[in-house]
Amino acid sequence: MSKLYFESYQSINTLLKTLQYSSAYVLVDQNTKLHCYPLIAPFLPSHKLIEIKAGEVNKSIDSCIRIWEALSNDHADRQGLIINLGGGVITDIGGFCASTYKRGVQFINIPTTLLAQVDASAGGKTGIDFQQYKNQIGVFSEPEFVLIDNSFHRTLSNREKRSGFSEMLKHGLIADKDHWEALTHLDYEKIDLDTIKKSVAIKQAVVENDPTEKGHRKILNFGHTIGHAIESTLLGTENALLHGEAIAFGMLSEAFIAVKLNLLEEASFQQIQQVVEKYYGKLQIEKALRNKS
Ligand code: GLY
Repeated sequence: MSKLYFESYQSINTLLKTLQYSSAYVLVDQNTKLHCYPLIAPFLPSHKLIEIKAGEVNKSIDSCIRIWEALSNDHADRQGLIINLGGGVITDIGGFCASTYKRGVQFINIPTTLLAQVDASAGGKTGIDFQQYKNQIGVFSEPEFVLIDNSFHRTLSNREKRSGFSEMLKHGLIADKDHWEALTHLDYEKIDLDTIKKSVAIKQAVVENDPTEKGHRKILNFGHTIGHAIESTLLGTENALLHGEAIAFGMLSEAFIAVKLNLLEEASFQQIQQVVEKYYGKLQIEKALRNKS
């Protein structure tokens, strides 16, 4: 399992001294290049920048080619190091390109969104979307380390923070009642590092038990079957949801099914409903769909 550091990005230079590498490459998209890279750049050792376009639609083979070309054109060798600076798209694709370039070079993740900090950046899943399928191509591959600093949250909109927050609610619901209770009283606009640490610890414990998702790790997909369906149904409409927002409604829907199957008590469902509505409001899917372009 990767080492996780919950500290300031200013310590990156010291942390990188624990690794041996020939040359470093920082992978960014246009958003992290603009908002996050300038913060951390003064603390980074000598490196080259590789930029791809932001957004899930660019978690693609075309972006991989761009990254592999940049590495190859620069004659990056097997001791190269990729520093992934961004959200889940960057950590997924950067980890995948690093793991396949010359049969695998080292990479580290510096997740800048709450969503990537509590989910995508840790656990070893890397990959890209292919045809119409999410994460269709990829490998399990662990970063050398993950550096999590919530001061990057100042670069996020409140909606993006709310999106990441639902993965934290998921961690509480699947594994830790106290964490869930604590989250239900929190302001997602001001999530502290200790609360993030708690969520990541829950995820890490699951991953440790089943790193390649043979069984138990599927618990981390709670809310995602219906959530992904909601997300893709509303994609391209003016009511499109961010990933975590759709997952919140996915968890509520799956909890409802659990009640119908006598797997969950009605009172627990009502509590989940109250919390999802408090943070995410109500989703009127038919009304939302009327604006589908
Ligand atoms: N995002 C779910 C997992 O890492 O397994």
